[in-house]
Amino acid sequence: MNHQKKLFIFDLDGVLASTSDEHFQAWKAIIKSRFNIEVADEVEEKTKGVSRIDSLNKILESYHLEDSITQQEKEELAYKKNELYKELIENFDQSNLFNGVIELLQFLKQKNILIALGSASKNGPTIIKSTGIDSYFDYIVDPSLVPGKPNPDIFSKAAEYFKLQPDECVGIEDAVSGIQAIKSANMYAIGIGNEKLLKNADIIFDSVGSIDFKFLEQLIGDNNG
Ligand code: BG6
Ligand code: MG
Repeated sequence: MNHQKKLFIFDLDGVLASTSDEHFQAWKAIIKSRFNIEVADEVEEKTKGVSRIDSLNKILESYHLEDSITQQEKEELAYKKNELYKELIENFDQSNLFNGVIELLQFLKQKNILIALGSASKNGPTIIKSTGIDSYFDYIVDPSLVPGKPNPDIFSKAAEYFKLQPDECVGIEDAVSGIQAIKSANMYAIGIGNEKLLKNADIIFDSVGSIDFKFLEQLIGDNNG
């Protein structure tokens, strides 16, 4: 039997804000200046949802460069990427949220749904503050304390915090690694974006703004499993 849904766990980059673009833009610049390589657009998906250093490793692997630099240099590149990323998001405010984000958060609050941030990004707390949505969040998972996506831990951690069962929780994700993480945590997965890529999600919408509130009412209240 399905339980009522009590907790929504949001990914950040590519779900609430367009910051996946800035992440990738920063990586492109760093890799260009170090290796003189233009990172191809199709590499981006591999960098989504995974930690900073894992993103770098995925890019290096795509160009068979993973053994060409030391761990220390990898850490230096990751540091530089983050400095550049922080510059790119320096002036972020509420206008950088995707359309419909505030309305969705308000809708969930009205329904007494708990809201958590389940992002791999260590910049997550800064971004939800600068975009003015931090007060909607009841809990922020600290990604430095748990194994990253596609492992289930970021999502499971939020459920554990509220002492909820996985089937009382919904995860919202735009990345393949993130949908995998939600499904490994045995939660309901809402995919945002490409239908083909996110085929393992339970349902897919183009954007947060296109999530149907009637559908959400049913999902939240479904006791008849
Ligand atoms: C995820 C992004 O949300 O956060 C990844 O999709 C990024 O691309 C990861 O690597 C870590 O972010 P940060 O801000 O800690 O470097
Ligand atoms: Mg994302």
